[in-house]
Amino acid sequence: MNYGLKDKVVAVTGGASGIGRAACELLAGEGAIVAVIDRDPVRNAETVARLRQQGAVASGYHVDVSQETDVSGCVTSIEQEFGPVYGLIVAAGISVAALAEDLKTDDWERVFKVNALGAFLCCRAFGAAMLSRRAGAIVVIGSIDGIGAQPGRTAYASSKFAVHGLVKSLAAEWANRGVRVNCVAPGLVDTPLLRTGMPARFVDAVVDRTPMGRIARPEDIASVAAMLLSSATNFVNGVIIPVDGGLLASPFTRKNGADLSSNRLLEAGIYTED
Ligand code: NAI
Repeated sequence: MNYGLKDKVVAVTGGASGIGRAACELLAGEGAIVAVIDRDPVRNAETVARLRQQGAVASGYHVDVSQETDVSGCVTSIEQEFGPVYGLIVAAGISVAALAEDLKTDDWERVFKVNALGAFLCCRAFGAAMLSRRAGAIVVIGSIDGIGAQPGRTAYASSKFAVHGLVKSLAAEWANRGVRVNCVAPGLVDTPLLRTGMPARFVDAVVDRTPMGRIARPEDIASVAAMLLSSATNFVNGVIIPVDGGLLASPFTRKNGADLSSNRLLEAGIYTED
């Protein structure tokens, strides 16, 4: 794919793992200059080494996205090192599992600090630099949990609803000053966040309900984020794009469901299953 990002500076938060790392690798392959932003110094250095091995120009920035001074300092450092930042992908995020009645205030705040405040601080700091040049594009990684909630993830889902609201607000405010803001809302993605935080049984249940019959690979999300940075989407602004293999499109299950299950449909000869 040619996303038209060659020699453009793109910053990726959460770039040391999962979706963020896949985005960094894709951008590097496209010839973009990649700024990897993460609070995990070891995996950050590892990512930068991988990108450089690919022949890319890349640097790592040790940043906690929930800290205002970290974020503003990082914009300055990146622009000093590489010049104007054209693109930003906001992928840093965390989750906490708890039933709402047991959810600790600290955990609610922790999730909001990274997912919602962190996204805002990064969009504000990078966005201000882009606005001053009237050129830039931002993609925030939201979630289908910001469209319909998931039990046991109250803080996470609420923070993703906030993030989706942030994207629409910024899109409305900045579009006529040359900066587009959009969102990719993944279903389940095979990353460390998922594998450490989600029981395998739940993943199986989601696969069962996903028309494409699998969860996403990080690259499935990265490519849509890159597309939203590219000039191919020049008139796309303020959208939340679910990338979920069709999960939100259909209430049917593929194998294990009851009344709405695909087994019923199969028995009725309505469609065939792989
Ligand atoms: P991940 O855990 O593999 O990567 C997240 C990265 O963010 C890590 O490298 C971590 O060190 C970094 N990070 C966390 N807090 C930070 C902070 N305060 N400052 C700087 N860096 C920080 O997770 P994954 O799955 O790649 O998630 C990326 C984004 O995608 C998140 O916003 C997540 O909510 C979202 N998402 C993930 C889904 C999944 O199933 N994996 C589904 C839907 C959305």
